[in-house]
Amino acid sequence: MRIVRTIAETRRAVADLKEPSRTLGLVPTMGALHEGHLSLVRAARSRCDAVVVSLFVNPTQFGPNEDLSKYPRTFEADCALLEAEKVDLLFAPEAAEVYPPGAQTFVEVEDLSRRLDGASRPGHFRGVATVVAKLFHIVAPNLAFFGQKDAAQVAVLRRMVRDLNFDVELVVCPIVREPDGLALSSRNRYLSAEDRRHALVLSRALRRVEEQAAAGVVDAEPLLAAGHAVVAEEPAVRLDYFRVVDTDTLEDLPRIDQGALIAVAAWVGPARLIDNALLPPR
Ligand code: PAF
Repeated sequence: MRIVRTIAETRRAVADLKEPSRTLGLVPTMGALHEGHLSLVRAARSRCDAVVVSLFVNPTQFGPNEDLSKYPRTFEADCALLEAEKVDLLFAPEAAEVYPPGAQTFVEVEDLSRRLDGASRPGHFRGVATVVAKLFHIVAPNLAFFGQKDAAQVAVLRRMVRDLNFDVELVVCPIVREPDGLALSSRNRYLSAEDRRHALVLSRALRRVEEQAAAGVVDAEPLLAAGHAVVAEEPAVRLDYFRVVDTDTLEDLPRIDQGALIAVAAWVGPARLIDNALLPPR
């Protein structure tokens, strides 16, 4: 695996990888890699001739009181994992390479960026859309791989790709969970053993909603009540949102007949965790 730090080097390396008939896959990450990231890399490996991973803790997607400075940075371990997955190229720039002094151009997907996580993390999706747009320009991938765990991020990026005519296919890979249901996240590293036990309430609440939906409940209100009741079993968990929304617009849905996204976010100890489940149309 070749490691490059600058945009110029990345462009040259990508040109070498991308002969005319080759499919290039990009997996954007912020490092602190876990099996969820590796599932994206494996999906990219199986669908693409060449795989580029980016590793960049993007400062513009963190709010002033968020965890940018303590976000886990595990570069050596990340490189070993990516090497083992036969990644061709790792782009790991410094912040000044991505945002040169005086940078003042941003990408904002206006309405979607204020929904779900965007409501409690103002500016977050502007930072995500901006850095992903930059990565798409620098790497010019045919396919780009993202995790379903970040369902709102996926909705924002899909809209950006459509609105700005990016010539890239977004591939969304399923959530990877621990055997006890906890969705994998780099932020799980912040959890004590006790926090981790509390955090299980999120996947339990989603399962309860799925069970109710499978049993024939179609109105969002009783489904949400069932989910809230489960979360209330862990008073240490501070709920941010629990919603039933449209997968593309992230607007609240009164019913789930046409399919829906159930999304939850909560603070557990020092970590803000998110999780979700897709309800199929009936
Ligand atoms: O999902 C993430 O890890 C980040 O939001 C992304 C897409 C790498 C952009 O910084």
